[in-house]
Amino acid sequence: MGNFGVCYYPEHWDEERIETDISLMKDIGISYVRLAEFSWHKMEPIEGQYDFKWLNDVVDKFADAGISCIIGTPTAAPPAWLMNKHPEIFPVNDMGVRVTFNGRHHDCQSNKTYREYVKKIVTEMAKEFGHNENVAGWQIDNEFGNGHGDLCYCDSCRQAFIEWLEEKYKTVDNLNKAWGCAFWSQEYNDFSEVFLPAHTAAGKNPSTELDFKRFCSDLIVDFSKAQIDIIRQYSENQFITHNCMGFADKVNYYDLAADLDFVCHDQYPGGFYLQMPHEDNAFLAQTLELMRSFKNKNFWIMEQQAGPTGWNIMGRTPAPGQLSLWTAQAIAHGADKITYFRWRTATFGTEQYWHGILPHSGKPGRRYDEIKYTINRYDELLDEIKDLESDAKVAIVYSYDNYHALNIQPHNPDLSYVGVLADYYRALYDLKIEADMVSEMADFSKYKLVIAPLQYILKPEVKEHFDEYVKNGGHMCFTYRSGVKDENNICVSDCELPGLLSEMTGIEINDYDCLRETEVTIDLGQYSGKGKLFADIITTKEAERVGVYTNNYYSGETAISVNDYGKGLVYYIGCELDDNLLNKLIYSMLLQAKIEVKYKELDRGIEVVTRKGKDKTYIFFLNHNNYVAKLNKELIEGIEVMIGEKNGLLEPFGTAVYVKEK
Ligand code: GAL
Repeated sequence: MGNFGVCYYPEHWDEERIETDISLMKDIGISYVRLAEFSWHKMEPIEGQYDFKWLNDVVDKFADAGISCIIGTPTAAPPAWLMNKHPEIFPVNDMGVRVTFNGRHHDCQSNKTYREYVKKIVTEMAKEFGHNENVAGWQIDNEFGNGHGDLCYCDSCRQAFIEWLEEKYKTVDNLNKAWGCAFWSQEYNDFSEVFLPAHTAAGKNPSTELDFKRFCSDLIVDFSKAQIDIIRQYSENQFITHNCMGFADKVNYYDLAADLDFVCHDQYPGGFYLQMPHEDNAFLAQTLELMRSFKNKNFWIMEQQAGPTGWNIMGRTPAPGQLSLWTAQAIAHGADKITYFRWRTATFGTEQYWHGILPHSGKPGRRYDEIKYTINRYDELLDEIKDLESDAKVAIVYSYDNYHALNIQPHNPDLSYVGVLADYYRALYDLKIEADMVSEMADFSKYKLVIAPLQYILKPEVKEHFDEYVKNGGHMCFTYRSGVKDENNICVSDCELPGLLSEMTGIEINDYDCLRETEVTIDLGQYSGKGKLFADIITTKEAERVGVYTNNYYSGETAISVNDYGKGLVYYIGCELDDNLLNKLIYSMLLQAKIEVKYKELDRGIEVVTRKGKDKTYIFFLNHNNYVAKLNKELIEGIEVMIGEKNGLLEPFGTAVYVKEK
């Protein structure tokens, strides 16, 4: 199996068309297809009557052409006969309204009847294709959490939540205590009295909400595991994966990934909807880095943008070169294989404007040519750099608990956990410094600097892990709203903030200010700038002052501090700094940690990514600008160009890959 594939929907076209499609695919170097992840009705048109002939024919035709198949389990689109027979499978939203048919993701994963139907169809599929040599692997469901992010609040979920709580808390007294149920008379006499945190008349208990998010994630992991177990029973030498969605918060991908052979990601740089970031290069890079963290190894792209995106609303048309650039970006950050979504643009259904490689007409055009060029350019390189590691000396910590807890109580309506992580990543990205995304308990030993923003919920074992890293010489950076809560989402009260981080940071926070629609001014000695979102007013104990506030009643008080701790250093940043100030501060941290900042002066739109092997290091230069850019001579001296122009020129949206022997 080669390195490039496509998502293919043979059921959307006349049967004869597949011959043309196969020959066009061969022509551009497509070596695998993903199939069937929404084809439940086609495989089981009537309850219990399975029809796999069409899919077998398709798999065989691809086999004849030397193209492998990946089959998706169709559980994100249960068919109408099933939903009519068991409407209780439709999820219920937080207002108590049951959603209905006409779209997809209309299944409640806790529903036991649904689980039985899932078991049957997945078993039949696994029996049918588990031994097919041309089926290389499986995708479970499709994008768990897509369209399902805030669901479900049905009776079955309530019962499952109650069982999950009983398992976790053992006694109802423990539960009442953990959730602080003394507040507003929320005590339960029995687990069976617990309600789901659906829409209320006023407010919600944040501890209940956090546990519900954890429960929802566990439910999906369990739903996925049930399918994986069936497939493993019948399959031989086939991988099992799932297509994740970057920073989506429905399921904890570290947990989901544990049962998968590798994770996949769906990358749409043009964005899905209006409110999403569009072509935000730093955020795209960060998302890819996040993917690599889930199993601490490389991943695949299961859906890579192949044209303009669109359902009812459309995204911009990728300019010539951009599809290729985005592919190169994914490869640079650790994607071992790239699967384009989709082969040909659908003429019917919800996604008529979500363009594939081929337009509606099925005739090859500009996108087809560009993808042919891209595959040709990167296929060999992919073989060569598979499994290579990043060379990052900096890591940013990612935590689902903090993500959830700050979604539940953002303090400042403008504060978003992911947004803050993105600010830190962007500051590094603009300095052309690579950063890995890591979980709280990841091995930090290869990093010189670990940035852990918003450690709002801090468990003692996580604190110990941080402590050890710094004592051994690591540098860490924390921010405002850290050490505030325990794992039940309850405020700590046995010491001043930043709670468990007080000793490491050498500070106390005796006062703070939620900066609603206002900013603070900050002086850093050489630089000054602004802060937003939240301001911790820092009292330095052992720590030294790095920056001071220069307005408000706390003018003259500490805004940023640094503490010598063990053999390492601990920074504490009391508010969200403006881009320029954050950039300056991060730069000084990098120098302090003895991290070389080599490419800082390169044009802003040029991204630099390194993959390090035993004998060779590969350096990608990605030009996100729509103009020609140039790499200075000194920067490329002593390194060989492997892909791209020899003279250091980068075409608009062009890429160059250089190689350095050890
Ligand atoms: C993804 C999904 C695909 C397709 C695509 C375009 O989120 O996995 O099935 O829907 O978006 O909308």
